[in-house]
Amino acid sequence: MPESFYICTAIDYTNGAPHIGHAYEKVLADVIARYRRLKGEDVFFLTGVDQHGQKVQQSAEQAGISPEKFVAQNTAKFVALWKKLDIRYDGWAATIEPQHKKCVQKILARLHDEGQLYKASQGGHYSVRQEQFLTDKERGPDGEFGPEWGKVEYREEENYYFKLARHKEWLLGLLDKDDDLITPAFRRAELRNAVAKLSGDLCVSRPKARLSWGIEFPFDPEFVTYVWFDALVNYISFAPGGYDPTRSTINDQPSTFREWWPATIVIGKDILIPAHGIYWMIMLHALGFLDDEMPRLVVHGWWNISGAKMSKSLGNVVDPDKLADSYGAEALRYYLMADISTTGKDAEFSEERLIVRYNTELANSLGNLLNRTINMAQRYRDGVLRKVAVEHAALARLAERVPEICSRYSEAMVAFQVDAALREALALAGQCNLLVESMAPWKLAKNPAETDLLDAVLYHLAEAVRIIAILVAPVLPEAAKGIFVQLNCAAELSLGQTDWGRLLDGHRLGTARPLFPRIETAPAGRG
Ligand code: MSP
Repeated sequence: MPESFYICTAIDYTNGAPHIGHAYEKVLADVIARYRRLKGEDVFFLTGVDQHGQKVQQSAEQAGISPEKFVAQNTAKFVALWKKLDIRYDGWAATIEPQHKKCVQKILARLHDEGQLYKASQGGHYSVRQEQFLTDKERGPDGEFGPEWGKVEYREEENYYFKLARHKEWLLGLLDKDDDLITPAFRRAELRNAVAKLSGDLCVSRPKARLSWGIEFPFDPEFVTYVWFDALVNYISFAPGGYDPTRSTINDQPSTFREWWPATIVIGKDILIPAHGIYWMIMLHALGFLDDEMPRLVVHGWWNISGAKMSKSLGNVVDPDKLADSYGAEALRYYLMADISTTGKDAEFSEERLIVRYNTELANSLGNLLNRTINMAQRYRDGVLRKVAVEHAALARLAERVPEICSRYSEAMVAFQVDAALREALALAGQCNLLVESMAPWKLAKNPAETDLLDAVLYHLAEAVRIIAILVAPVLPEAAKGIFVQLNCAAELSLGQTDWGRLLDGHRLGTARPLFPRIETAPAGRG
């Protein structure tokens, strides 16, 4: 039985259009999912959109349209972009779907019945303009609430609270014993510090008078669900097999759900604390999930622009749609995977670097290798490979290096370090290009005594290119297919095919076609 791998991303807010941060996270999860499929695992990749909440309600009001229409318009932009970027997901989580609403409502009803939710009245500073309660974090350096909040008044409000704090010791214990729960480890340490300071419960409702665009409480129609409590549930409400909130243990859940769960959830650093690391873990624990049934969180860093956060107000938002139009989806996918380290640190987005890396690594190194391999085989051997036994140190080194590269590549992919995995694949291309220079096949072709050596060189190059195509396939699915077409390989791209020597004696290569034409234009600038 193949292993099952359930991978999810955060679901994106639909109060605007997708930006480069959203695109990065989807490509990252897509690459991991494709890698697992390449390995032969059964994969279910869930992504989607977060459609409720105050921001959507306010933006829809400003736009003079209903929230339904507003989220439909924005959701369409996300769907179109994922298609353009070749994001191959299996499930689509949209939080306005009845299936999701029912799941959230059943969870609320169950927690309420079990005494894990209670109603209480609390007072605080409320911004009438922003329609939200303010905390001390919102105070300026002078201790006052700034003009952006408009009129601030003291208000008492009744709400429902989820008993969060009672699970603090459990969560600390879990973080201490489970090393794999949060990747990278330094994020686990940050989370642990935050949990140690946890006090108070979580307000999970909003009075309808203040927020109507949300999931109604099943036992109190005066309230809707707080958007995080709603959104986090997507990972189970849209899980393969379907989660049934009325059943308290996992053993009672549908068997398909049990096969896929727990999920691997890919999120940005900003939504680890408190949303995923505290609320979500505790919600699951409260629902009866056991410690080894907790999801694994993969936390990535952020893309910044000239050292600053990307934001609409700074006018520095990078539009992935335009970049894909200018440079192609695969160039963008490659850049996003190669230029940030998935050990969780932030990176600097630069269109110049996108162009430089594409030209150096894809056009010059990999593209050129493919091109010259096929062209030389066509010119000197009418495209037919011969598998001959020739002893030659440089050729032996190349063949010997492949298993090492493949195993380091897989280690990196399993650890979500796509940048490191790509470096392995590109290192192989680099070694092949050096081999071409040192062996100079054009000289060998002139010397009849070197016939076998020339055949061996051409075979080694073609075989290495075949393996590189498999390794880059998760990031560059179209290019990988293109390489296979040019090599005239009918086999499916699969990690099980990376062992050396699969191209047969007498194999006829296809025709060369530039796969990564150089980008000659200057950066168009962000839009
Ligand atoms: N809707 C919530 C998530 C709910 S999950 C149950 C949300 N949405 S978001 O649209 O603001 O962000 C979606 C994802 O994009 C988050 O994981 C976030 O970290 C990521 N990114 C947003 N900006 C980013 C960058 N500039 N760089 C990289 N990723 C970033 O939060």
